[in-house]
Amino acid sequence: MPPEDVVITDEADKLRQVRAELLAGLTAQAAFISPKYLYDELGSRLFDAICLLPEYYLTRKENEIFATHMAEISACLGRDVCLIEPGAGNCSKAARMFASLQPKQFVAIDISAQYLHAALQPLRMAYSEVEIIGLGMDMAEQLDLPPEVLRKRRVFFYPGSSIGNYTPEQALQWLGRLRAACDSDGGLLIGVDLVKEKAILDAAYDDALGVTAAFNLNLLNHTAQILQADFKLADWQHKAFFNTQQSRIEMHLQARHAVQVNWPDGGRHFAAGETIHTENSYKYTVGDFSALLRDAGFAPQQVWQDKDRWFALFYARAV
Ligand code: AVJ
Repeated sequence: MPPEDVVITDEADKLRQVRAELLAGLTAQAAFISPKYLYDELGSRLFDAICLLPEYYLTRKENEIFATHMAEISACLGRDVCLIEPGAGNCSKAARMFASLQPKQFVAIDISAQYLHAALQPLRMAYSEVEIIGLGMDMAEQLDLPPEVLRKRRVFFYPGSSIGNYTPEQALQWLGRLRAACDSDGGLLIGVDLVKEKAILDAAYDDALGVTAAFNLNLLNHTAQILQADFKLADWQHKAFFNTQQSRIEMHLQARHAVQVNWPDGGRHFAAGETIHTENSYKYTVGDFSALLRDAGFAPQQVWQDKDRWFALFYARAV
C-alpha cells in the first residue's frame, strides 16, 4: 500500500506572511511582486495557454528533447531512482518518464497539497509499480524531506527552466540545497533555457495574442484580492524585454499615467511610466550553467539539446 500523502504546511500564519511579503515589495523604492503570485487558478491556466503559443518555444523544445532522447536520459539516470520533483504541479512531465525510467519512488512536491492529491490519483492507477508520494510543502522554506522519502539514489527533477526565475546567486543557493538533500549517489535532471537572439526572446515574453500580457496583468488581480487593494488593470501595461547585460528577460507592469493604489491602512503613488517588476527569467549558456552546477556540488554528466540549440536538459551527478 502506498504511504499516504504528507502535508507539511502551517496554514495558520500563511496569509499574514503573504500580505507582509506583498506589501514590502509594493512599497519598496523599486516596486516588485514575486512571480510566484502569478499562479492563482486563472494564472495557472494562462500559463498553460502560454505553453501553446507559437512564440513561447520553451515547452516545445523541452518536449522535443524528451521525445528524442528518452532512452538515453533513462540510461543515464539508471534504474530504481527516487525521483523528486519540487513544484510538480500536474506531474505530467515526470509521468511521461515512468515507462522508460522505471523509478522506485516518485515524490511530487507542491505548495498545493490538494491539487497534488488529485494529480496523483490517476498516476497511482497507471503505474502501480512506482511508489508515489505527494508532499504538500514549500521546499523554498522547508528543507528536510520526511522519512517516507527513500534515501538512496535521489534524483531531483526540475524541468521547464523554472531555475530562470532565480538570480544566478539565488540559483546557486537553491541548487546547493538540492545537493544537500541527496547523498553522493544522487543527481539532478534540470531544464534550462539558453541565450539566443534578442528578437526571439522578446517575442516569447510579449506574444502577439496578448496571453503573456494577460498572465502578467492577472498578477494585479491576484494581489488586489489578497491585499484588498484597488488596482485597476486599465491603468497598467505589460512590458517584457531581454536585458542583454544581465542575460535575463524582465517582466514589468508599467503605469500608463500617474496612479494611486490604496489598500487598508496604506497605499502608494506611482508616477506615469513607473513599473512594478514582476519576473526575471535568466538565460544561460551551456558553459555558464555547467559552471553553476559545479559550484553547487554537482558534476555535469550529459547535456541534451533540441536541434536549434535553444534549450538544454542537463543531468548532473552529486559529487
Ligand atoms: C515557468 C518560470 C519557466 O520564465 O519562461 C512564461 C514563466 N513568464 N512567460 C518562464 C513565464 C512569462 C516561465 N517559467
